[in-house]
Amino acid sequence: MNRPKIIINAAMSADGKIALVGGKRIKISDEADFKRVHEMRASVDAILVGINTILKDDPKLTVKEKYVPNAKNPVRVVLDSKLRIPSDARVLNSMAKTIIATTEKAEEREINAEIMRCGDERVDLNCLMKELWKRGIKSVMVEGGGTVIHSFLKAGLVDEMYVFIGPLIIGGDAPTLAEGPGAKSDEEVIRLRIKSCEKLGYGILIHYGVKND
Ligand SMILES: NC(=O)c1ccc[n+]([C@@H]2O[C@H](COP(=O)([O-])OP(=O)(O)OC[C@H]3O[C@@H](n4cnc5c(N)ncnc54)[C@H](OP(=O)(O)O)[C@@H]3O)[C@@H](O)[C@H]2O)c1
Repeated sequence: MNRPKIIINAAMSADGKIALVGGKRIKISDEADFKRVHEMRASVDAILVGINTILKDDPKLTVKEKYVPNAKNPVRVVLDSKLRIPSDARVLNSMAKTIIATTEKAEEREINAEIMRCGDERVDLNCLMKELWKRGIKSVMVEGGGTVIHSFLKAGLVDEMYVFIGPLIIGGDAPTLAEGPGAKSDEEVIRLRIKSCEKLGYGILIHYGVKND
């Protein structure tokens, strides 16, 4: 396998939503899950999100000292086909290395990050994973949002998935765990396997296997 191990991690409501209607962030996890997420961040070589997550949530994507003392921050990777990332996005701070994965079509820009070009219209995930592998990145934690999670699943690139289900209902057309066009036939459905399931804090943590492992 000449690509990193790919692990999806997300938190969703009981009705499968990962944010409020309109995409505004909502706290779904509790302290027990935040601790788990930060421990997972500290254990991987890279964390990856899509540009909409940066625009909506403006996350730092670092490991919080409070949950994991003295941890090394993984490389942060953002999928951004048109290089739209604001120069003051918190993910561009100097707390960790950041790679903006973009396309050949995006215009040149000076930002506090390495720019990696893979693909013409959208970031080509296979190409990106090969490039990251060449740089010694052996594991990638995909943190969302739903569009990026769907792309990784659809491309057959996911090894494992952790979903924390919080005890709340959001409803409406709020973003879901997997966006994208969705399956219209049985063949298009992405099937998972439950490896384990546990009560964690006030929610449930499900660990899925995705490949035939
Ligand atoms: N609860 C959770 O665990 C959690 C975690 C993270 C985010 N969220 C929520 O998720 C929402 C954002 O999710 P989202 O689905 O709107 O956007 P997203 O997945 O964060 O970003 C999607 C964007 O990434 C870019 N992209 C580039 N190459 C791509 C590729 N190969 N595949 C997929 N996307 C690619 C595209 O924009 P360009 O074409 O412009 O490049 C695409 O529209 C926010 O509301 C956020 O709060 C929740």
